[in-house]
Amino acid sequence: MTARCAVCAASSGAIRGAGNHTVSQCGIPPALRAVTAQRAVPANAMPNRLCVSVPLLFNSRMNFLVTGGAGFIGSHVCERLLREGHHVWAFDDLNPFYDPQFKRRNLRDLQALAKPFEFVHGDITDRAALDEILSSVRFDQVIHLAARAGVRPSLLEPALYQRVNVEGTVNVLEAARRNGVKKMVLASSSSVYGLNSRAPFSEDDPIFTAISPYAASKLACESLGHVWHHLYQMDVAMLRFFTVYGPRQRPDLALYKFAQLICAGKPIPVFGDGASARDYTFVTDTVQGIIACTRTELGYEIFNLGESQTVPLKRMIELLEEALGRKAVIDRQPMQPGDVPLTYANISRARERLGYHPQIPFEQGVKLFTEWFLKQNIRA
Ligand SMILES: NC(=O)c1ccc[n+]([C@@H]2O[C@H](COP(=O)([O-])OP(=O)(O)OC[C@H]3O[C@@H](n4cnc5c(N)ncnc54)[C@H](O)[C@@H]3O)[C@@H](O)[C@H]2O)c1
Repeated sequence: MTARCAVCAASSGAIRGAGNHTVSQCGIPPALRAVTAQRAVPANAMPNRLCVSVPLLFNSRMNFLVTGGAGFIGSHVCERLLREGHHVWAFDDLNPFYDPQFKRRNLRDLQALAKPFEFVHGDITDRAALDEILSSVRFDQVIHLAARAGVRPSLLEPALYQRVNVEGTVNVLEAARRNGVKKMVLASSSSVYGLNSRAPFSEDDPIFTAISPYAASKLACESLGHVWHHLYQMDVAMLRFFTVYGPRQRPDLALYKFAQLICAGKPIPVFGDGASARDYTFVTDTVQGIIACTRTELGYEIFNLGESQTVPLKRMIELLEEALGRKAVIDRQPMQPGDVPLTYANISRARERLGYHPQIPFEQGVKLFTEWFLKQNIRA
């Protein structure tokens, strides 16, 4: 008889497919199998947990579930947690919003670290799949990043955005609550500020001017986070990310698209007169803020995670041209519906409460991004 994989069976008994393969078919690299077997929490060792207000415990070896863990920001978060010695499960449906090869490559990078990492292929709109994973492992914290991202595509499929981002978030919060998870870190977005006219944007600004279905879905998530905190005493951090960029960048975002077109000698579509401006955040700075939240008891708190520096579109293109050593051909187009003219983060709250200190100014970050981008293109 062929030996079944005992490591998967021990570590994540209820994960679909776990233990249903042989040792030689197991995706966990040999170096990691021993670690996984030692540190795994057997499914039947789960105590019956209630959601009551108890002080949170932080230690250097925790179990994290990262939804959207195969994506751009999620894969960086997983990597950082693994390097710190935590055990990480990434939950992701690998959908084709952009080429899933990017996500698979991120997963390969994570697996290559040979640390206690497991991938669960699942959809946050599937309540049973979430329950399965959350009831089979004792998670200390959930970092919920899975979402349909992107402002413009949300105008084409508003119902999908609401289903995944709003209903999906309810499912994640509820599965976490049912299974005794006390701490959640959730992704929101600078887009919730919409047409806010006060700059820089502060977490206390009244925000009733969302201008895309995506922004509205993230506003709903912020509200849901507060509900689960209020009703069930969950510790909830809502993070408003500001245009995140860097290695493993999503290919649908402007910086990546522009780099691709410039390298191919094709015109880049520039919406508006180039004066619109973004607060670009290098991905390791975003991750710094996320990790700080995982170490701090917060109650319910919203944080801006940006650099607090605005870069006009025109300047972004100049810096990209310099870094790539090529001139861009500009194809000027009207401003797009749903796009905001400005994002600009006031980060005083994150500085004070999280010790957040962004390190990479855009001029440096764009060089780091292009180095990665050019390497990928050579590899492809
Ligand atoms: N990148 C940015 O500039 C930015 C800015 C603001 C907010 N955000 C938010 O940060 C989070 C991560 O964004 P990202 O840029 O890494 O995007 P991403 O698309 O690379 O990552 C999201 C991941 O979630 C997964 N996912 C989507 N729907 C899912 C579902 N139904 N079930 C399971 N997994 C699903 C995707 O497959 C993907 O791997 C998102 O919530 C996004 O809205 C990102």
